[in-house]
Amino acid sequence: MLTPTLNAIFTAAFASLFISIRCDNPLPRDVALFIFGDSINDAGTNKYINTTVNFRANFFPYGETFFHYPTGRFSNGRLIADFIAEYAKLPLIPPYLQMKDDEFMGGANFASAGAGALSDTYEGFVVSFMMQLKQFEKLEKKLSKRLGNEEAKKVIAEAVYLISIRNNDYLTLIHRNLTPFQPSSMEEYVGMVIGNITTVLEGIYKAGGRKFGMIGIKNIGCLPSLRKSTGNGSCLRIANVLAKLHDIDLISILKKLEAQLQGFKYSYFDFYTSARDRIRNPSKYGFKEGKMACCGSGPFRGNPSCGGKRGVKEYSLCRRPEKFLFFDNHPTERANQQYAQLMWNGSSSITGPYNVEELFKLGRA
Ligand SMILES: *[C@@H]1O[C@H](CO)[C@@H](O)[C@H](O)[C@H]1NC(C)=O
Ligand SMILES: *[C@@H]1O[C@H](CO)[C@@H](O)[C@H](O)[C@H]1NC(C)=O
Ligand SMILES: *[C@@H]1O[C@H](CO)[C@@H](O)[C@H](O)[C@H]1NC(C)=O
Ligand SMILES: *[C@@H]1O[C@H](CO)[C@@H](O)[C@H](O)[C@H]1NC(C)=O
Repeated sequence: MLTPTLNAIFTAAFASLFISIRCDNPLPRDVALFIFGDSINDAGTNKYINTTVNFRANFFPYGETFFHYPTGRFSNGRLIADFIAEYAKLPLIPPYLQMKDDEFMGGANFASAGAGALSDTYEGFVVSFMMQLKQFEKLEKKLSKRLGNEEAKKVIAEAVYLISIRNNDYLTLIHRNLTPFQPSSMEEYVGMVIGNITTVLEGIYKAGGRKFGMIGIKNIGCLPSLRKSTGNGSCLRIANVLAKLHDIDLISILKKLEAQLQGFKYSYFDFYTSARDRIRNPSKYGFKEGKMACCGSGPFRGNPSCGGKRGVKEYSLCRRPEKFLFFDNHPTERANQQYAQLMWNGSSSITGPYNVEELFKLGRA
């Protein structure tokens, strides 16, 4: 389902890597990018699994702005990971499940819309975070066979691992209507989410991965779907409280891993603050609308009916998505570009201790 242009880009990238391996060429090898997580990072994985249309975005108007066809990405165009790949001079990184057996084009994308850190989050409908790790381990074995052990080890060790996982764990909790929680049970739940994230990070490390680009959690209470639910247009406070708790725990676990695991390096992107600033003050960042989605139905277009295929046929679509922060309940391409730039070379108050550009450069030394 690739356009001719993308196909050409992919083939060219593959050819150059292939040649450099075959000829034992001393040219610097590209630093690979491996992508894990949920719909923020899913570049079409869910087209290849047995899921429901709720977890798919492979229909109009998804993709309308950049690709001009639906790729499966939950946006009108590119995702944060696509911009990061571009800045790193890599081709678009394809879904792992789309890759042919002998194909390696500078990385792989394992992310699956709907996935959470907990395996029981939408179990059976998504590639869970743990399963994504298993797929990565499989790919690593294939790479070792093809490139030889030494070369494969280098690719794995120098690669950047871009991870976005957590929203769905909290959204399922909120939708199950377990609110109001006792603070102690909220902390327990967050602890479980962080525990499972830690397990996968340790798994990637064990497989040889060293450089982690962590996308923090947004102020999910201000997603159009949750803003709709409060009845007066304000953000759903409890969801933002959960997000804050999550971020505090995530940062402390990253620091701990850095201290415990030799060579573990990370970049943490403060998605919460970046999204909050744009929601509060859209015009400062070139947007007109920071609350309502471009595509969907109901108040704030918070119903996820964009495209009319998820049970509800009615939806509205804005004319100029670049003026909106949200496409559906996910960022527009324009917003993704801004977030990606902040991750790539933003100031240390938003992305640190390393930014993603620095993580890539570490591998080229
Ligand atoms: C896909 O899932 C549905 C519902 O869970 C099930 O009925 C169907 O048999 C599955 N199809 C395949 C090919 O596994
Ligand atoms: C940050 O990276 C972007 C994307 O490569 C680039 O356009 C921009 O000039 C960079 N900014 C700085 C300050 O280096
Ligand atoms: C991972 O999540 C499961 C629930 O899905 C939980 O029972 C388990 O304790 C968690 N693991 C860690 C290490 O926190
Ligand atoms: C909106 O409603 C919520 C309860 O659903 C309440 O906590 C909040 O204070 C209200 N906000 C405004 C601005 O009225």
